[in-house]
Amino acid sequence: MKSVADLGDLRGKRVLIRCDLNVPLDGGTITDDGRIRASLPTINQLREAGAKVVVLAHLGRPKGEVNPKYSLAPAAARLSELLGTEVTLASDVVGESAQATVAALADGDVALLENVRYEPGEESKDEAVRGALADRYAALGDVFVSDGFGVVHRKQASVYDLAQRLPHAGGGLVKGEVEVLQRLTQDPARPYVVVLGGAKVSDKLAVIANLMNTADTLVIGGGMVFTFLAAQGHEVGASLLEADQIDTVKGYLDQAAASGKQILLPTDIVVAPEFKADSPPTVVAADAIPADQIGLDIGPESAKAFAAAIAAARTVFWNGPMGVAEWESFAGGTRAVAQALTEVDGLSVVGGGDSAAAVRDLGFADDAFGHISTGGGASLEYLEGKTLPGLAVLEEN
Ligand code: 3PG
Repeated sequence: MKSVADLGDLRGKRVLIRCDLNVPLDGGTITDDGRIRASLPTINQLREAGAKVVVLAHLGRPKGEVNPKYSLAPAAARLSELLGTEVTLASDVVGESAQATVAALADGDVALLENVRYEPGEESKDEAVRGALADRYAALGDVFVSDGFGVVHRKQASVYDLAQRLPHAGGGLVKGEVEVLQRLTQDPARPYVVVLGGAKVSDKLAVIANLMNTADTLVIGGGMVFTFLAAQGHEVGASLLEADQIDTVKGYLDQAAASGKQILLPTDIVVAPEFKADSPPTVVAADAIPADQIGLDIGPESAKAFAAAIAAARTVFWNGPMGVAEWESFAGGTRAVAQALTEVDGLSVVGGGDSAAAVRDLGFADDAFGHISTGGGASLEYLEGKTLPGLAVLEEN
């Protein structure tokens, strides 16, 4: 994969850079700007090289329609603040405003085009439709830099097809993320412990299947715990349960037992009668969840056991909260896991937009971890062993 330095003299060149500025918003307020901050080094590198920097990005899933709810305006404002220079936001993606905005750029200036997902071609499954949009992107630039690691698992016009149309390179963010993921997949220092949380086991099946081969211990928390507990024959009360996945999960438990791998499950659970922040919490044994209660976090005994498994590791990857971490009564498990990761003697990786936002929300500093990935889905698909289209295309000429 070429790097920005391989693109030659960029002075006066229009550089299209795909970033992942898909930040969480509360109304118009950005609640975690981690992805914007992670995009700064490559943008600054291009500015310093005298390029005219044109940022392409998405926000949410507007599904090919213009919808002000998904405007990149808050991201443009924050990017301006962080760069210390005005970032002009075009009011369209490839239309008159985009063309005029790019034409007005001086060397070292930065512009942002509107949400690429306003264009139906961006996410089209039809290669010709995507290609037609990518042609219009390509007309706005001279070279392409791919730096939106969070979207490299998407075969989309601004991620994949555009790279086929212009001289291209991987930006520092993409290259750095790939280096870390390579350390996880190619001969990781052992013990290698993977902590998986989040609501649904169905989202994680493929990665669990692959990690059964590469990791030494799989630690399971979050909503998907209850499908594992049900697979062990326990009642889970009113907790989240994917009944159609119970057999698959049983298969993993059997496979782990046969191969000597450890799947570490919680032994106690914080339950409450309602799915509400102020619903009164109680700790119960994982095999004795009352019928009228919902499991909303791992319990304190489990948090200790998880922290001990993490402390003994030399490599740790963590994706997904252990409970409903945005509610204080159910944040204990996630906090304990995050704390344990900060104390790892080796490589600790927090994978994903949501997990990254959760640790910052709980007050942990970015540099307390070995690496905080900007890509949730992308890092999981990488660990599944899949070919990521947005990375594969950068290897082509
Ligand atoms: C993410 O939030 O993981 C990335 O920005 C990709 O977004 P997507 O899942 O909507 O493609």
